[in-house]
Amino acid sequence: MHNLQKKKASVLALCGKGGVGKTSLSATIVKILSSDSNNKVLAIDADPAVGLASALGVYITKTVDDIRNELIQRVESGKTTDKAQMLSMLDYEMFSALEEKKNIAFLAIGRPELEGCYCQVNHILKDLIASVANNFDFVVIDGEAGIEQINRRVMAKVSHLILVSDASAKGINVAKTIKEVSDNAIDYKKAGLILNRLRSKMEYEKLVIPAELDCLGWVPEDETIRSYDIAGKSILEIDDSPAMLAVKNCLSEIGLLVTSGQKNSRKPAVALTG
Ligand SMILES: Nc1ncnc2c1ncn2[C@@H]1O[C@H](COP(=O)(O)OP(=O)(O)OP(=O)(O)O)[C@@H](O)[C@H]1O
Ligand SMILES: [Mg+2]
Repeated sequence: MHNLQKKKASVLALCGKGGVGKTSLSATIVKILSSDSNNKVLAIDADPAVGLASALGVYITKTVDDIRNELIQRVESGKTTDKAQMLSMLDYEMFSALEEKKNIAFLAIGRPELEGCYCQVNHILKDLIASVANNFDFVVIDGEAGIEQINRRVMAKVSHLILVSDASAKGINVAKTIKEVSDNAIDYKKAGLILNRLRSKMEYEKLVIPAELDCLGWVPEDETIRSYDIAGKSILEIDDSPAMLAVKNCLSEIGLLVTSGQKNSRKPAVALTG
């Protein structure tokens, strides 16, 4: 077994309505946190559609779900029955599924597990993901749209819940619901809302944000993110952009990044003209 109890990672999970920018912001956060070469960052793609892999320019060879299916096949065919053997195989497979690029590692979860069956395998995997996370300073989880994932394996150890919404009332409402479900389901330390793709400060100021959602700031509609996405380029290649600056400020607001200056969560994360 690896040395699994080394560090206590800050585990960030990005959740929100479909299409609001969870993957783009997750990749931006990975870029920001990993720009300090002392930080070891694990990016977890918890969306079966594996968008984070392309946003980070990673090629996936194996997902956690593939590992799970292989193990289940082995159990069913009678090749693996011993729990210790099962554990060491999973431990090995999990570390070999990590794709690494300098101080960033990447793990894709794959499809959601089927309810009710293979509980033992699911529990072991959940513990293993948590153990893998202990080898990193930061874990950034790009969540699947909606609230279903809150109770699932990757969300159990979240320390920072980042709710993402666009300017729509629907998006903000989904963020509110996710927060309510999370309050009962997970033991996070801090939660905050990031408003993404806003067109102006005026748009931000007009929004009605429920009091229970602590707004960390807003991220402008950013041409760099758009054009990189269109060209299929990795967000890790973006050195600076208005969105990146805004996300940095949001990370400071939630206490994950120490920067000079801002400490007022109601202030816009970046000033736009117009
Ligand atoms: N700040 C931004 N400025 C410009 N474009 C953005 C911004 N944030 C996200 N986008 C674009 O919006 C689209 C949706 O973003 P993204 O895929 O990150 O959302 P998502 O919440 O992960 O979606 P899904 O729920 O489908 O996983 C993408 O085309 C992305 O390039
Ligand atoms: Mg996504």
